[in-house]
Amino acid sequence: MSHLDDIPSTPGKFKMEKSPYIHNRLRWQSSIAKLTFWSFIFLGLILVFFFRSPSSNPLPQDPSRRSLRTDNWGGSAWEKRVRSSARVRSRNGISVLVTGAAGFVGTHVSVALKRRGDGVLGLDNFNDYYDPSLKRARRALLERSGVFIVEGDINDSALLKKLFEVVAFTHVMHLAAQAGVRYAMENPSSYVHSNIAGLVSLLEVCKSANPQPAIVWASSSSVYGLNTKVPFSERDRTDQPASLYAATKKAGEEIAHTYNHIYGLSLTGLRFFTVYGPWGRPDMAYFFFTRDILKGKSIPIFEAANHGTVARDFTYIDDIVKGCLAALDTAEKSTGSGGKKKGPAQLRVYNLGNTSPVPVTQLVDILERLLKRKAKRNIMKLPQNGDVQFTHANISLAQRELSYKPTTDLQTGLKKFVRWYLGYYSGGKKAAG
Ligand SMILES: NC(=O)c1ccc[n+]([C@@H]2O[C@H](COP(=O)([O-])OP(=O)(O)OC[C@H]3O[C@@H](n4cnc5c(N)ncnc54)[C@H](O)[C@@H]3O)[C@@H](O)[C@H]2O)c1
Ligand SMILES: *[C@@H]1O[C@H](CO)[C@@H](O)[C@H](O)[C@H]1NC(C)=O
Ligand SMILES: *[C@@H]1O[C@H](CO)[C@@H](O)[C@H](O)[C@H]1NC(C)=O
Repeated sequence: MSHLDDIPSTPGKFKMEKSPYIHNRLRWQSSIAKLTFWSFIFLGLILVFFFRSPSSNPLPQDPSRRSLRTDNWGGSAWEKRVRSSARVRSRNGISVLVTGAAGFVGTHVSVALKRRGDGVLGLDNFNDYYDPSLKRARRALLERSGVFIVEGDINDSALLKKLFEVVAFTHVMHLAAQAGVRYAMENPSSYVHSNIAGLVSLLEVCKSANPQPAIVWASSSSVYGLNTKVPFSERDRTDQPASLYAATKKAGEEIAHTYNHIYGLSLTGLRFFTVYGPWGRPDMAYFFFTRDILKGKSIPIFEAANHGTVARDFTYIDDIVKGCLAALDTAEKSTGSGGKKKGPAQLRVYNLGNTSPVPVTQLVDILERLLKRKAKRNIMKLPQNGDVQFTHANISLAQRELSYKPTTDLQTGLKKFVRWYLGYYSGGKKAAG
């Protein structure tokens, strides 16, 4: 790794340079000894340089790990930035570690928390699943509101430990994940890396932290898989996922149960239903439909067997943000300490949707009106490789316990998205994706 000086488990490495100097200083009278001493320092410096240089990174060239090499953290200036970003500025404010902060939902949640005076520190590996320049633009936005995003991986335990040493986070908003349903056939290991290994690494550090933070994290409506009973309610079965993505989110819910049960971590899972809006994700249909309609390119519109409608419960980002903040605010404290459970802790799961599924054809109608262009529709059979025919959330539980109440319909939300899209991609910027 590129930051040996920050790994708490190997502090001895750097003491070597100092201690012989301090203990033997007075005895080194001859110039030969001085020469030896300075050669030692020089050799030490070369070694330090060698270990810090990226070319010496021992990791294999596995694309799912590429992101682990981008980090470059540590040092007192860095710690100062971390502390300042995480500093609580309002009475009763909380300090939140937001993973996936350069992502779509992470950016919006971070801004909202910062705005009300909470301490916020972001963590993101800026991977290139979709155009990283959009993630960097979101980071610039966050920097302007005073949120620092540490560039690093959630599976980097040393980094996570360091962050908890520097800041006693009261909450973690865990949004970092490998998203996307069909990409799982191309790069399955990236799902295991972020959604399984990364989640476990994060929970391991959280359970050992003193105090333990309360954790709110993003699951997905995809856990309902092939269910046909609608609307989807939290108590419905979630054991027939239709994609590896869904399977890793379901696994995440089970892993959350385990850490709650064994270590007393307070855990809240949020099952998001197709989130959309400004600064959104270029791999999602509403986003690339917009891009392709503007380009005059045909767009694939999926149809289920017997011309069945494919529909989604589209949820506007501002509504999701309110749900996330309400989940943080109602989260009870974790009960463990010193890595041991002291009593039962809160374990929750909520649907965050909009309760009104819209056929994809209607999504395209709205986009055509907003963009003042006709779409070239290419009707295709829904492939059986991840996407489900429809999603529809029962949100009465979130309504009751989080006062969650979505207020933005698809027409209104898409209007805001299109306005952002046209502004963002005008002025020489190429459409992403
Ligand atoms: N947008 C939706 O419709 C939707 C629906 C259901 C669930 N979700 C979930 O909500 C969360 C946020 O989704 P989003 O739409 O903002 O996605 P996003 O891809 O825009 O954001 C995820 C961010 O996490 C980062 N990341 C990924 N792996 C990482 C790792 N190993 N270490 C550090 N950072 C890493 C990515 O760089 C990205 O910026 C995800 O967990 C996603 O699975 C989203
Ligand atoms: C995650 O990190 C652990 C060590 O902390 C490592 O053993 C494991 O290989 C990593 N997993 C992935 C998938 O990168
Ligand atoms: C919605 O979920 C609640 C539980 O939160 C349940 O009582 C109710 O019956 C569900 N409604 C429908 C229509 O499934």
